Amino acid sequence: MINKKILITGGLGFIGSHIANELMANNEVIIVDNLSTGNIKNLNNYNSENCKIIEEDICNANFDDLTRDVDYIFHLAAMVSVPMSVENPIECDRINVNATVRLLDSAARNDVKKIIFSSSSAVYGENNNMPLKETEPFMPNSPYAASKASGELYLQSFYENYGLNYTALRYFNVFGPKQDKNSPYAAVIPNFISALLEGKQPVIYGDGEQTRDFVYVGDIARANIEAAKSDFNGVVNVASGEKLTINRLYEIVKATLGSDIDPKYLPERLGDIKHSVADVTNLEKINIEISSDNFENQLIETVEWFRTIL
Ligand SMILES: NC(=O)c1ccc[n+]([C@@H]2O[C@H](COP(=O)([O-])OP(=O)(O)OC[C@H]3O[C@@H](n4cnc5c(N)ncnc54)[C@H](O)[C@@H]3O)[C@@H](O)[C@H]2O)c1
Repeated sequence: MINKKILITGGLGFIGSHIANELMANNEVIIVDNLSTGNIKNLNNYNSENCKIIEEDICNANFDDLTRDVDYIFHLAAMVSVPMSVENPIECDRINVNATVRLLDSAARNDVKKIIFSSSSAVYGENNNMPLKETEPFMPNSPYAASKASGELYLQSFYENYGLNYTALRYFNVFGPKQDKNSPYAAVIPNFISALLEGKQPVIYGDGEQTRDFVYVGDIARANIEAAKSDFNGVVNVASGEKLTINRLYEIVKATLGSDIDPKYLPERLGDIKHSVADVTNLEKINIEISSDNFENQLIETVEWFRTIL
């Protein structure tokens, strides 16, 4: 993609910054971010003349102005924490649904070419029909999951009524450099890596035989950019399509770090799902393949990044 005008909401966050870094070299990028979980240092070159950073909450943003002459929108800003959404469903709706609808409304009126929405495998809830296909029904078990499902439905309705092109990408378990390890809701890979680097004993909830489908953040950024270029309107799982147990993941992280610390097992957490793996056939609709073959190298890159911030 070159010489396009691009709006990225949440562009200073873990995933958004990877997309921004990728696009900034050859495009004009506008980032709207309130810095609630994002960090300007996530950008490789925040002084670039191709990048404008607007520090603002998407709930207050003037999207009519921000989407003027914009070609593509990558919409990532959101309340990202499931427990926080359970504590404050109204705030979750305000950020994840209401601000999204206002963004779509402006985008449609300003003839934006396409919007790429960051959705989540959370919309499948406790559906056990593995591998999970995009045609499975929504089974949201948190306000967060419901808000992502609502976002997808609004995208579909804006496409039907106003011809606003979209792809909703349902990310599975994303990992990679720049992922937050300090959040109380940090994901399993940052938790394992940071505990081992600090010589502490990481925690595994349950027996560790639960499975997850891990996908590298670089692949997520690539999926966003390819989705924008494709003419596919609809929903795509973004995952590797391979399941890995948490115990096996632990062994790989431990070996990568050369550690001999064993994990501490605690009781299963309420609401944790047992298994999750994606059907990835729809990735071909946005012209990409994601393979788990590079998992160990991607983990090494992730570990190297964590070493630099400790
Ligand atoms: N990381 C994952 O495993 C994962 C999985 C599925 C879906 N997602 C989705 O991907 C998107 C990006 O997630 P992430 O992991 O990069 O999270 P993140 O917290 O690192 O990034 C979110 C960014 O949005 C900004 N933001 C949050 N609320 C805002 C608001 N009201 N106004 C303006 N900016 C705001 C934050 O400051 C941050 O920079 C989110 O929509 C999330 O729901 C992430």
